[in-house]
Amino acid sequence: MDRYAVIGNPIAHSKSPLIHSMFARQTGEDLQYEALLAPLDDFSGTLRSFLDEGLGVNITVPFKEQAWALVDKHTAAAERAGAVNTIKRMADGSLLGDNTDGKGLVRDIQHNAGLTLAGMRVLLVGAGGAARGVIQPLLQAGPAQLCVVNRTVEKAEQLAMLFKDLGPISAAGFEWIEEPVDLIINATSASLDSKLPPISPSLIRPGHTWCYDMMYASEATVFNRWAAEQGAARCIDGLGMLVEQAAEAFALWRGIRPDTSEVLAALRQK
Ligand code: ATR
Repeated sequence: MDRYAVIGNPIAHSKSPLIHSMFARQTGEDLQYEALLAPLDDFSGTLRSFLDEGLGVNITVPFKEQAWALVDKHTAAAERAGAVNTIKRMADGSLLGDNTDGKGLVRDIQHNAGLTLAGMRVLLVGAGGAARGVIQPLLQAGPAQLCVVNRTVEKAEQLAMLFKDLGPISAAGFEWIEEPVDLIINATSASLDSKLPPISPSLIRPGHTWCYDMMYASEATVFNRWAAEQGAARCIDGLGMLVEQAAEAFALWRGIRPDTSEVLAALRQK
């Protein structure tokens, strides 16, 4: 049977096997998808031995940058992102690396939540790997402005430099910005420690500004709870992004894009 896997460390919590098995059932594709724990010092060994037989993998924390360095070819999105979350073994045995995180985020915002990014003022909070991975698709959606704000301002400035040919991107420190924006996306790892990035409440115009946390948990994240308290029009977590990035990977491997709505609804019920 065609084999696929997600590789990470830790990996036990991963929802990807469940999501891909639902996609396979829905589309009638005959495949097996498993979760693999790679040792922190030997991601490439785990990857190579799986891909002797397997047709593709997803890569999660903390191996996405290593995966970028190991593949033979990158899609345009992966090239810019500097990180790979999806690998496809091609017919000639070479490895193609893609990054579907940003496509998944934009699809969740625009298609599932119904917010058109064109012309919007968007604040991207954080300048680590997670932020870098979503900038190209965000800029391609045509916002009026994408401002990257980060605790360490130099990292936000580096990202703005790296992507400036693709659209209106700028960088800022938290204390520099106060005017309300249309959408705030939290791409920091702060939610993992139940911490809040130091964002001024004045950035949220009550009843207007949307907030999106790329993290998800069974309860609302700290960032989304804070945003709701400030009167944000909508607070969305990253579960939809997770399902949409998985659908993009499935489409790359199998040539068919599953309907994500029923999978997302099933996960929300759990
Ligand atoms: P990831 O791959 O999840 O993006 P990362 O590359 O380590 O992880 O980046 C983490 C991001 O979260 C960074 O933007 C970091 O800010 P710094 O660059 O200033 O370190 C941000 N971050 C983490 N904890 C934070 C906190 N408590 N408040 C604000 N930003 C935080």
